[in-house]
Amino acid sequence: MIRKIALAAIAAIAMNGGAAIAAEESHIEDVSFSFEGPFGTYDRDQLQRGLQVYTEICAACHGLRYVPLRTLADEGGPGYTMDEVRDYAGEHFEVFDPELDDTRAAIPTDHFPANTTAGAPDLSLMAKARAGFHGPYGSGLNQLFKGMGGPEYIVSILNGYTGEEKEEAGTLFYENTAFAGGWISMAPPLYGDDVEYADGHSATIHHEAEDVSAFLMWAAEPKLEARKRAGFISVIYLTILTVLLYATNKRLWKPVKKAAKEA
Ligand code: HEC
Repeated sequence: MIRKIALAAIAAIAMNGGAAIAAEESHIEDVSFSFEGPFGTYDRDQLQRGLQVYTEICAACHGLRYVPLRTLADEGGPGYTMDEVRDYAGEHFEVFDPELDDTRAAIPTDHFPANTTAGAPDLSLMAKARAGFHGPYGSGLNQLFKGMGGPEYIVSILNGYTGEEKEEAGTLFYENTAFAGGWISMAPPLYGDDVEYADGHSATIHHEAEDVSAFLMWAAEPKLEARKRAGFISVIYLTILTVLLYATNKRLWKPVKKAAKEA
């Protein structure tokens, strides 16, 4: 009985206590992304829309220096053809070429440019670097049970502005319910209808935030689908192996057991 109560208490802390602590610190909303769960995959259209939001808005301040442009054509990614990537790279980005000692239009073998403007951090790994909420005592339970992680955090930051501002030592800070400490130096980047989606999807702040977060998740973890597939195949393989080993074991010991019974 005592054990039961203890288990229930631990479960309660894990599920609710965690949320209560989170609410005090920062507010992270739960979003159901297509890539969550053991069989989740990226939504190609969403990744394309997210790339558009990144390119037209976030790239003004944030770099993606670890992401090669050519990966936009990789399987499991936004699903562009290499020709489309070539056009996109050349149209939107310039890189410094040491051989030319000059800047030139980007080509697919380049990475997205770095950008250190205004102290904005690089976003290549942001979706993995931040967590929605680590669960009580950093146990990661919420991430496991609710699938809340970096993408949820980014959505919450983009939606978390209250409209309050303050100036401190010459820097403007904006109140944000998701940011630790409550005040972030990034001006609200999204207002809704900041981009015009080619697929006619409505560009509310919420949609834009979710799309760009999904894209940043792909940027941080481009091999997610392959990894899940490999995991699934391993589980099937191990299951078959277990059955075979069990049968082998039974068979090997059968004569011994029989002899023991007869003795
Ligand atoms: C005008 C420049 C600017 C634009 C545009 C901008 N950001 Fe930022 N961003 C910043 C700065 C500056 C910081 C650092 C804020 C701080 O640490 O107080 C930041 C921080 C962040 C962080 C990290 C928060 C953390 O936990 O440290 C994320 C995530 C982020 N931005 C996402 C985005 C996304 C997504 C977009 C596009 C929709 C975007 N930003 C557009 C300037 C910008």
